[in-house]
This record gives sequence, structure tokens and C-alpha cells, in this order.
Amino acid sequence: MFFVVVFQSLLLVSLCLFGGQFFVAAQQLPQSEVDALNEIVKTMGAANRSFNGSACGFKVTPVSDAESDPTAEITCNTLNNTPHITAIIFKRWSLSGVLPPQVVRLPQLQQIDLAYNYLNGSIPVEWSSMKLKLISVFGNRLSGNIPSHLGNITSLTYLDLEANQFSGTVPAQLGKLVNLETLRLSSNSLTGNLPMELSELKILTDL
Ligand SMILES: *[C@@H]1O[C@H](CO)[C@@H](O)[C@H](O)[C@H]1NC(C)=O
Ligand SMILES: *[C@@H]1O[C@H](CO)[C@@H](O)[C@H](O)[C@H]1NC(C)=O
Ligand SMILES: *[C@@H]1O[C@H](CO)[C@@H](O)[C@H](O)[C@H]1NC(C)=O
Ligand SMILES: *[C@@H]1O[C@H](CO)[C@@H](O)[C@H](O)[C@H]1NC(C)=O
Repeated sequence: MFFVVVFQSLLLVSLCLFGGQFFVAAQQLPQSEVDALNEIVKTMGAANRSFNGSACGFKVTPVSDAESDPTAEITCNTLNNTPHITAIIFKRWSLSGVLPPQVVRLPQLQQIDLAYNYLNGSIPVEWSSMKLKLISVFGNRLSGNIPSHLGNITSLTYLDLEANQFSGTVPAQLGKLVNLETLRLSSNSLTGNLPMELSELKILTDL
């Protein structure tokens, strides 16, 4: 009898422990997203910043009202008790790498804001398979033609490529972005006429 009671108590204790651990684990980002996030920051040139399963709470707000202060935030949304990254914001972070293709490994990602850095290269083709709503790469050193594959991200409502070194003509494929409300292309080295296809952007209010 005594042994049965002890056994039952142990069982209860271990169930509680297991339950507790399960509860804690459920609040953590999936390891696949932690790994992707660490590769993303490394690719952008912030190799000495690393994140763990608690990355969702990460937020750096400006010290003062100063426009020049770095800001950053990792935003998440919880689905079936598991958080997933929905937004990556690193502004004025002195990033001097390239735009990260690894964001495709964040299945719920909707917003990428990397304004005011020194990122160069172009926009990775991998981004075109995602359901992004916002891309801002304002004030970086991106160059080459504006990639036509951006036209595949039809979920986009906000696309800001302003103040980079993009050249060539504006691709007609941007006319496929029918959900766009904001399209900013100024302060680049673009040439030629705007494509007629941009007239398909019926809800665009800011060009
Ligand atoms: C992290 O990077 C910053 C800026 O590049 C540098 O000033 C700092 O010394 C680095 N810290 C470590 C621990 O490497
Ligand atoms: C996760 O990272 C945060 C911030 O760097 C740190 O405070 C926390 O202790 C870390 N948690 C674990 C379990 O390593
Ligand atoms: C990006 O910058 C690195 C050095 O910071 C340079 O080696 C590379 O050629 C640049 N790439 C482009 C496309 O400008
Ligand atoms: C973009 O969409 C077109 C038409 O659906 C498709 O043929 C093309 O392969 C896509 N491009 C990329 C880079 O996903």
C-alpha cells in the first residue's frame, strides 16, 4: 500500500514536471526559426548578435526622441500554442551585409523593415515565394535593376525601395502587386518611363 502511494505521488510529481516543461517549451520559438533568425542576422552583418527561443520579446526602442537612434524588434504571433516570427525590424543598426534569403524559413513572416543601414547587393529571389505584406529597405546601398520577381509577392501592401542605388527601368511586373497602397522608388538611379502596368494598382495611394 505504502509503495503504491509513493508510486502514485512520483507519477503525479513527474506529470507536473512534464506539464510544466511542456508549458514553458510552448512559449519558445521553434528551433528552426531560432536557427533561421541567427543566420539572418549573420547574413546582414550583425554576426555578434544571437537569439534564443525567447527572441519574441526582443525590442530596442530609441533612447530619446532622436531620429538617429537604432531601433529593432522581433514580433511574433502565437498559433496552436507556438509563437512564430511575423516581423523583423532593424533600423539604423549599421548593418553592412546583404539582404537575407533565409527569411523564407520563417513561415509566418509578414514584415521586413531594414531601413537606414548599409546593406548592399539586391533583393533575394527567395523572397518572391513569401506572403510578405511590408518590405522597407529605405536608405541602403542596394543596386542593380529592381528585380522583376518582386511582382510575385502579391500580398504586398507596402514596398519602399527609396534611397538606394537601383538602376535601369521600373519593371512592368510591379503592376501585379494589386494590394499595394504604398510604392516608394525615389532617390535611386532609375531611367525610362514608368510602365503602363502600374495603372493596375487600383488602391495605391502613395507613389
Ligand atoms: C559587436 O559588434 C559591435 C559593432 O560592430 C562591436 O562594437 C562590438 O565590440 C562587438 N561585440 C563583440 C562581443 O564582439
Ligand atoms: C535568451 O536570451 C535572453 C536575451 O539575450 C537572455 O536574457 C535569456 O537568459 C536567454 N535564455 C536562455 C534560456 O538562454
Ligand atoms: C557589397 O559590399 C562588400 C564589402 O562591404 C563588397 O565586397 C561587395 O562587392 C559589395 N557588393 C555589391 C553588389 O556591391
Ligand atoms: C513568378 O511568377 C511567375 C508566374 O506565376 C512564375 O512563372 C515565376 O517562376 C515566378 N518567379 C519566381 C522567382 O518565383
